[in-house]
Amino acid sequence: MSAISQPVAKKLPEVPRLQSLRNSITLAANPIPVLNGYLDTYGDTIVVYLGGIRRTVLTRDPGLVQHMLQKNHRNYPKSELSHGVARYLGHGLLTSEGSYWLQQRRLIQPGFHRQRISSLVTLMQAEINECLEPLERQLSQPGSYVEVAVHELMTTTAFRIIARSVFSNSLAEAQLHRMAELLTAIQAFYVRTVRQPYLRPWQHARGQFQHHDQLAAELRDIVRGYIRRRKQTSGPPPDDLLQMLLDARYEDNGEPMTEEQVLDEAAIILVAGHETSANALSWMWYLLAQHPQVVAKLRTEMTQVLGDRPATFADLPSLGYSLQVIQETMRLYPPAWILDRVAQEDDTYNGLELPKGTLISGYLYGIHHSAKLWDEPESFRPERFGPDQIRQQAPYAYIPFGGGPRLCIGNQFALTEMQLVLLEMLRRFDIEAVAQPPIDLLPMITLRPRQEIKVRFRRRQA
Ligand code: HEM
Repeated sequence: MSAISQPVAKKLPEVPRLQSLRNSITLAANPIPVLNGYLDTYGDTIVVYLGGIRRTVLTRDPGLVQHMLQKNHRNYPKSELSHGVARYLGHGLLTSEGSYWLQQRRLIQPGFHRQRISSLVTLMQAEINECLEPLERQLSQPGSYVEVAVHELMTTTAFRIIARSVFSNSLAEAQLHRMAELLTAIQAFYVRTVRQPYLRPWQHARGQFQHHDQLAAELRDIVRGYIRRRKQTSGPPPDDLLQMLLDARYEDNGEPMTEEQVLDEAAIILVAGHETSANALSWMWYLLAQHPQVVAKLRTEMTQVLGDRPATFADLPSLGYSLQVIQETMRLYPPAWILDRVAQEDDTYNGLELPKGTLISGYLYGIHHSAKLWDEPESFRPERFGPDQIRQQAPYAYIPFGGGPRLCIGNQFALTEMQLVLLEMLRRFDIEAVAQPPIDLLPMITLRPRQEIKVRFRRRQA
């Protein structure tokens, strides 16, 4: 074939290695401005050397992300960046691959159907009430207000909701705290090992890997203890996610999971299911405090649908604007802000060569903020998610829960929990912004606020 008739492979723009290396410290502190700068300068799909070392294709092209997550997903297992978590958390849904992942997904999926979530709502609501009680007490004096540290409150609330949804009331308070501490420490260390690979020899020498292995073992021991106790308990079992995992049977042989498998899945659900929601809820209060007109619109909807009463699961579909607020929050602050995959075989996308072994980072934050996909992308406008507008969104322009077969299994759970927290807090309290400098991003595995978010809460005046 002549050279002319051959398809010309597009060569990707590359951020010079020296520039990547020079930026590696800033990148470790907050990669988002650095990555945005690269993409604005070089194009929507580029090559960058993470930490100055790891060659990565970074993309905010929704088409390429759809290609990798959905259209040709078989060629794109998760990268070792995601699999590395398995060292600490085991091989649950989030960290497994191939036929084992598919078998587990099929087994567990029914436990997350809408119907099943509805039976967890009582547990969720009891936990929300408990988490709001201290604030209610602080606001008992007429006219008083509290400047609430919302990230702290939402982190506690989301962790308690997921922990209760997994273990119901069998979970002791002290262990609940310890589990939260362990998960935070393990995650922070893991992110450091990925972002600053050049620190590894030092971390090894200081015994940090060993130390975090021990923390992970402690976490597993706590979870294992609950699984064993649950198996020995007589009487009707609670209707929670642990029981769902214990009762699930493989289609082919009718067998249950082993104890270690249940442990892996329970640990992964705890991890995947709390920081994500906690961050989304925190950013939501941050945005609502600055947009009283959105709060007013929410209140109108709540008055029409609920009057003064708390929402039930059955009410949620009639409270569409509250869902739009959550959706728009996750557009601006996607809790999972980047997703990694690696090409298993040579592939092409739109004339772009993606040789076997290519690491691709789907930059969700970049997609959600792209001016090519969103009108005034930096504005908070829940109306974008109105039933008519949503139909106009480009495929994969909005993917807070990922896409394709590995779409977040907990998405209905998360949306339900977040809607319930939003509605219950607004039913009880009025909110106002507190004067504070803009809150910076802290992109770890999830997108956290770097500083605490303060919002003023008052008891609601009818
Ligand atoms: C706002 C809340 C949440 C967000 C934004 C979120 C986001 C995501 C995303 C983007 C993925 C796909 C990751 C990838 O493809 O690499 C994912 C997977 C997953 N999520 Fe969520 N998630 C949330 C809440 C939850 C909750 C509440 C649970 C559990 C109760 C959960 C459990 C999982 C699990 C088990 C997976 C792995 C699924 C699989 O690979 O089959 N997530 N999540």
